Amino acid sequence: MSSLLDEIKTGIIPKHIALIMDGNGRWAKQKNQPRIFGHQQGAVAVRETLEGALLCGVKCITIYAFSIENWNRPKEEVDGLMHLFIKACEDELPNLQEKHIAFKAIGNLSLLNQDCLASLQKVEQATCNNNALLLQVAISYGSRWEITNAAKNMAKDIVENKINIDDVDETLFGQYMLTDTNNDPDLLIRTSGEYRISNFLLWQLAYSELYFTNCYWPDFNKEALWKAIADYQKRERRFGKTSEQITTNK
Ligand code: FPP
Repeated sequence: MSSLLDEIKTGIIPKHIALIMDGNGRWAKQKNQPRIFGHQQGAVAVRETLEGALLCGVKCITIYAFSIENWNRPKEEVDGLMHLFIKACEDELPNLQEKHIAFKAIGNLSLLNQDCLASLQKVEQATCNNNALLLQVAISYGSRWEITNAAKNMAKDIVENKINIDDVDETLFGQYMLTDTNNDPDLLIRTSGEYRISNFLLWQLAYSELYFTNCYWPDFNKEALWKAIADYQKRERRFGKTSEQITTNK
């Protein structure tokens, strides 16, 4: 067994890790391959990362698979990615079942084509009782869209007298977001040496630790995940309190 895995298992494991999987295109270009080859190898890295997460006890992984802005990419790449998502749903379902991984798609799913939507829904339904790990796939996702959509739905409930405006607080508003309010990411990892959030989980990342690595996403693997967790374990999460309050638990 990896000594790094042994080491991190003695510390606090982040419950929820969010991942911006960047660098597929550059990785492919380095190898004189088309961009879609980078995305295909990116799917392999997702599987490897999930295995690494299961081995150390991470309970939730949220991956940024396709942003709302990604719809503006060349049609050939968008079509290739949609095809890849459909194929990954088919190929990975047995693996998800075997490993007891639940799957959930989050985003503006109404923009997806019928085949892609049906594939995602099939995997979501088939895995809904699995409880080893929750894999959330952000697809056709944009955080500003998510927040605006939440505000719109909440306003509708106010107008229809389902909720009272005076009861609106962060907890209530959070219930209109696409992720569980009690399950914000502890750690965000972005690959490829870019230092941006790119419209990903802006509400949910309020207190997450951020970790950036130069590694291109297709090269990301278990060890890279564990290295990020080891770095996370050195951080002191204060949530606005003082360091002294944290160490003395007051
Ligand atoms: C960003 O790299 C990556 C994407 C836009 C797509 C991510 C998709 C995958 C990793 C495919 C596998 C996912 C699943 C759920 C099966 P980029 O294309 O922006 O890379 P670049 O910045 O080097 O051009």
